[in-house]
This record gives sequence, C-alpha cells and structure tokens, in this order.
Amino acid sequence: MHEIQKEKQRRLAAPGRVLARSRRIIPITIKAFGKGLVAVLGREDVGVDFGTSTCLAAVRGRSVVLREAALCALDRNTRNIIAVGDEALRMLGKTPGHILLMRPLKHGSVSDYDVTTRMLRYYLRKVQGRRALLRPRVFLCVPGSVTDVEKRSVSDAMLDAGARRTQLIDNAVAAAIGAGLDVTGSYGHLVVDVGGGVTDVAVVSMGRVVARDAARAGGDRFHEAIMRELRRKHNLMIGERTAEELKTTMGAAIPRDTPMYMDVTGRNLILGLPRTVRVNSDELTEAMEEPVRDIVEGVHSVLERTPPELAADIFERGMTLVGGGAMLPGLAETLSSQIKIPCRAPNDPTACAAFGLAQIMDNLEAMAELLA
Ligand SMILES: Nc1ncnc2c1ncn2[C@@H]1O[C@H](COP(=O)(O)OP(=O)(O)OP(=O)(O)O)[C@@H](O)[C@H]1O
Ligand SMILES: [Mg+2]
Repeated sequence: MHEIQKEKQRRLAAPGRVLARSRRIIPITIKAFGKGLVAVLGREDVGVDFGTSTCLAAVRGRSVVLREAALCALDRNTRNIIAVGDEALRMLGKTPGHILLMRPLKHGSVSDYDVTTRMLRYYLRKVQGRRALLRPRVFLCVPGSVTDVEKRSVSDAMLDAGARRTQLIDNAVAAAIGAGLDVTGSYGHLVVDVGGGVTDVAVVSMGRVVARDAARAGGDRFHEAIMRELRRKHNLMIGERTAEELKTTMGAAIPRDTPMYMDVTGRNLILGLPRTVRVNSDELTEAMEEPVRDIVEGVHSVLERTPPELAADIFERGMTLVGGGAMLPGLAETLSSQIKIPCRAPNDPTACAAFGLAQIMDNLEAMAELLA
C-alpha cells in the first residue's frame, strides 16, 4: 500500500519535473544557438546616419551599403506602413488623401517614435540581409545640438528596431573623419554640415566639438525659397518635388557663367489652371540669397566663439563643407569669399558621416577615445 502511494506521488510530480527541466534547457539551447550563429557568421557592427532627408548605413568591413530617402508612406486611418525610403520618395506630391508621407526624424529629434522604429527595422533588415538573425551593435550618428532626451529617444528606437547595443557618435565628428580630416590631433577643424532641415556648424579638435551652432537654414530652405519666388514672380504654384528638381539641376549660390533655362509646369494662382513658365538659373540664385546669408551668419557666430589658437588653425587650413546642401554649386565659393577662409567640399558630401562611421568601426581600437 505504502509503495503504491509513493508511485502515485512520483507520477504526479513527473510533469512538473519535465517542465522545470525544459525551463532550464530552452534558454540554454537558445543561448547556444545564438553563440553558434555568432561563431559561424561573426559579430555584426552597423553604422547608421539617419537624417531628416537621407538614411545611410555602413557595415563594418563593407563601408556604405545603404542610401535611401528617410521618408515613410503611411495609411492615415490604419497607420500601416505602405512604403519606406526611395519607394516612398517616388510617391512625393502624388499621394491620394488616405496616404500620409512623413519624415519621422527631424534633425535628430524623433517626431513619431513608432514610425521611426519601424523604419529603422526596415533599414536594418535591408543592410543585414541573411544575417538579420544577429542583433547588431549599432553606431548611431546624432547631431550634437539635440538634447540628451532626444538622443536617448533615437537610441531607444534603434534598440526596439533590433539593435543589441547602441553607441552614439557626434555627427560633426563622424562627418569630419569621413571627409578625411585627422580629428584626433590638436588642430582645429571647421565642419559645416548643410543637411535637410538645418546647417550644423562645428569646430572639432582632439575628437571633440569645441564650439557649435545650428543655423536655421538647411538644404530644404533653398527649394522652399524657390517655391516662394515662383509664386511671387510668376503667380505659379509648384510642388516640393519640382522645386527640389529645379534646385538640384540648375540652382546655384552664385550666378552661373552661362545661365540655364527650364520650362516649369505648375498651377497658375489667378486662373487656377496648369501653366508652363520658363525659369532661368539667375532667378533661382536670387531666390536663395536669404538662406545662403543665414548659413554665412551661422559660420560667423561659431568663429566668434572659437578659441583663438583653433581659429588660427582654421584660418590656415580652411573649412570643410559636408551634407547634401554642399552640392549646391557656388556655395563653397560664397562661404569662402564672405568669410575670407578657404572652403572645400569633398566628393560625396552627403555620405561623409556614414564614411566616418565606417572608418570608426574598422579602427575601433585607434578611435576608442571618440567613443567615450
Ligand atoms: N545636388 C544638390 N544640390 C543642392 N542640394 C542638394 C543636392 N542634393 C541634395 N541636396 C539637398 O541636401 C539636403 C539633404 O542633405 P542630407 O542628406 O545631408 O540631409 P540629412 O542628413 O538627411 O539631414 P539632417 O542632417 O538635417 O538631419 C536636402 O535639402 C536636398 O535637397
Ligand atoms: Mg545629416
């Protein structure tokens, strides 16, 4: 009788034991599987420069692998994502009422956390491809002018998007490295980043930003000025996409040697009907005078606050123009002639920060002090 009771108790306890054992085994198995994956595929480091207009990503050992518009198309009612990146860009100016096009990150500040996370997840998966099972360490560019809370928000969005860890890097420092400047030395470098929303002006020395300012004139202000000018002068209303096309194809900060012309179709504000107007490049230069002046003022104000020794270095070596807006013909010449300091723009100014991240990831030990 005693033996039968013991056997019953043993049987009753058995499922619990199995459960307890499986609770121990499952995490160990997952951990072992993860370690096996890392052993087979290696650790993954990804650098991300998520800007107002463009998102660029680099993978350690493979340099820049992604460059897409930082744009998202959403269904207004369901909030479902319809398109991300360049696919969403193709919809600009042509979306029906139920589709909302949005830039969820405005100069390092998250305007919609959920959309930012979903976009970052899309970009991560795209750069990782088949290695998407690995949670990468992400080196994330952030403008130094944003608050700690804003930096934390982008970093949290990146973790929610699938990063294992994040390491924040100042945009200006990454862009300076990507532009080929030796930021670890005690020389002062002036970096002018003309992004989408604002222009970040920073003096970098010994891997740190010594003085900085954000001028309220980024590349988008140029084409907004073009839209205003065409409305004022020709009563013509054009979309953002057409204005940006005008800016990138024939805009210039100084009058071109040989003026260019383009026929632009928009809506006539008096008749309310489509009309075509011939626009010349000098009109665009005139329209963009104000934002160019704001950038010059931003640079002036930072130079006024720069320690004299570093200002002397900058005077000798000149300033470096990066960001998409640096591609505006004549902008470097205008800055150089107005501030009386040489100004150069590298070959691919939009990707400077991403190239910088790639260099940091490839030389982690040598660049350790930049990550402190
Ligand atoms: N060829 C060009 N000429 C003039 N402007 C250009 C050209 N190409 C791109 N741009 C402008 O560059 C800007 C985008 O620059 P960039 O990609 O560096 O911005 P971002 O890094 O996304 O923004 P931010 O740094 O402000 O968050 C846009 O305003 C775009 O219109
Ligand atoms: Mg940028």
